[in-house]
Amino acid sequence: MSIKINEDLASRTRISSKGSDRVKEQLDSVFESYRGDKNELIPVLQDVQEELGYLPDEAMQEVSRFVRVPEAKVFGVATFYARFHLKPRGEHIIRLCCGTACHVRGASRVADKVKDLLKVGVGETTEDLKYTYEEVACIGACGLAPVMTIDSKTFGKLDPDKTKKIIQNFGEEAEGGQA
Ligand code: FES
Repeated sequence: MSIKINEDLASRTRISSKGSDRVKEQLDSVFESYRGDKNELIPVLQDVQEELGYLPDEAMQEVSRFVRVPEAKVFGVATFYARFHLKPRGEHIIRLCCGTACHVRGASRVADKVKDLLKVGVGETTEDLKYTYEEVACIGACGLAPVMTIDSKTFGKLDPDKTKKIIQNFGEEAEGGQA
């Protein structure tokens, strides 16, 4: 496994000092369940991510101290596994299937529409932290191709116009639900 600290990424994931105090409190509550052993690195990272939503570099420094594993190794592990996220994630996750059936039925036009509407690329999160956009392999609903999910909801037989309406309606419903 190659271990490489991405300085640019680290600087983009720093959190404010006010946020830092809160993060420390959240980390303390995670650490309470562990002994602080190097073999606990991955489960600790998982729990920290569950608590914070992602792994800011400050959190990884604290994890490094707690499990007594060098920071470079902690960053290396966090960047090696796809399940770990080093950048904030959106409140809602949009996943567009780019498997064969969806591709053949126009997933790339749907992808262009989503990226254009949200002004994001693959794997990116909107500035307001509402949506993260991901492209995935077959999600097992080929009969509905092209297919995307928003959180746990599945939307099928998509075209660019239908996709636009779904995302706009979803945003309105989400805002209505929070009122
Ligand atoms: S290829 Fe998209 S759901 Fe199977």
